[in-house]
Amino acid sequence: TPVPPFDLVIFGAGGDLALRKLFPALAQRNEEGVLPEESRVIGIVRRQEDVEGIPNEIASKLAAAGLSQDRIAAFRRRLTMVLLDAVKPETYGALKEALGESQRVRSFYLSTPPDLFIPICENLASSGILTPTSRVILEKPLGRDLASAREINDAVARILPESRTYRIDHYLGKETVQNLLVLRFANTLFERSWSSRDIDNVQITVAETVGLESRAGYYDKAGHLRDMVQNHVLQLLCLFAIEPPNQLEADAVRDEKVRVLKALRPIVGPDVQRMTVRGQYGPGAIDGQRVKGYAEELGHVSGTETFTAIRCELDTWRWAGVPIFLRTGKRMAQRYSEIAVTFKPVPHSIFGRAPGCEELYANRLIIRLQPNDGVQLQLMMKVPGSGKLKIVPRQLDLRYETAFDVRTPDAYERLLTDVIRGDQTLFMRRDEVEQAWTWVDPILAGWQDYYPLPHRYAAGSWGPSQAIGLIEREGRSWADPEFGE
Ligand code: BG6
Repeated sequence: TPVPPFDLVIFGAGGDLALRKLFPALAQRNEEGVLPEESRVIGIVRRQEDVEGIPNEIASKLAAAGLSQDRIAAFRRRLTMVLLDAVKPETYGALKEALGESQRVRSFYLSTPPDLFIPICENLASSGILTPTSRVILEKPLGRDLASAREINDAVARILPESRTYRIDHYLGKETVQNLLVLRFANTLFERSWSSRDIDNVQITVAETVGLESRAGYYDKAGHLRDMVQNHVLQLLCLFAIEPPNQLEADAVRDEKVRVLKALRPIVGPDVQRMTVRGQYGPGAIDGQRVKGYAEELGHVSGTETFTAIRCELDTWRWAGVPIFLRTGKRMAQRYSEIAVTFKPVPHSIFGRAPGCEELYANRLIIRLQPNDGVQLQLMMKVPGSGKLKIVPRQLDLRYETAFDVRTPDAYERLLTDVIRGDQTLFMRRDEVEQAWTWVDPILAGWQDYYPLPHRYAAGSWGPSQAIGLIEREGRSWADPEFGE
């Protein structure tokens, strides 16, 4: 479906996300000619100097990304900055004026801290700016626990129906994440073995090399469980584990995702010590460069975790008994995200103890999200030659980069145009977000009571040794990140 003419209003236009992701994504869409001629992007800024300053900053970011001056100018023509204080209803007149009487689809992207979500929605409504088709886009984090998420959802629901509320989780806009549904439901091969019958364990890793960046205020209050697991990692788990929806339609997909979240066995009380690992990075080195520890970067001692590993399980017929290991952290050895599915070993090896055949590795399917996105399947193969039988693991390797000769768009490019088109498939529904918090809340509470301080790990490592213990005590090990490289 083509994108209809629109006005997209971005609250928090001077923020990190807007500058790094939102404006570049829109500029890219503009380049591709996807944005209708009369559409506009309106940035909300708080300081007079930002009215000029932010467009200049956007322009220099686009220039650094290689866009020509003509093209930057073309994008700038769509940009308008409006000075407004989100919490002061009397300042919304300027936005109302900028929007005028236009009949274009109005979308309001709240790229702000969540405590501004309620005042912004209320002020938009009371200023008469919302039209019957207006939509609001809520950036994560949606609250900091179930109670605050509900409060936000209730307040937004008083102003806009669910069908016009878009809760962003940018992982859903990543190509490989969308491909999870295709891999599973456009192929019969995997679906038949997608259960405890054939799968031994599942590992989801989202590892980053970056540290705090410029987000100390938010991140130190939130911590890694809220920042990455409540949303991105659980969304990956949902798409990995869902039952087939009957069609690719927003609510059909989201109904199934909620079922997965409801089936997650709660981790409560002292169990958090056995089932989870909290870590915080200390000083170390990444790519040969020395990096500071978290507390040093922050400027004070903190009990916030920058790493989380969790062993969880889904109580369903399909998944009962399959351990699922989640692992995510900042300042880890490499930036890589993947889902590693380890199948069960052969029931009996006919190769016995022939020399060179000591070990048959179980088949492993790797769904690599970044970098080098693609799918790899580890199989045991015979080494060619007429001498002794020698069996080794080798990979079937499908890389997006070589399989498709097209640019992989950034997640926000897809998601922003989905909002304007009115497609909610890749956005989180209210009950999904609340269900995810329902599972996360007891872990947070358990940490407070039983696990108040994170373990240390060196920046540039794979997290605290306890994370290795978490998986090895069950006779399994983390998939090798170098696999297939
Ligand atoms: C964001 C988190 O949602 O996702 C950040 O708040 C994190 O802390 C980022 O760095 C990771 O996104 P990506 O697309 O770089 O994997």
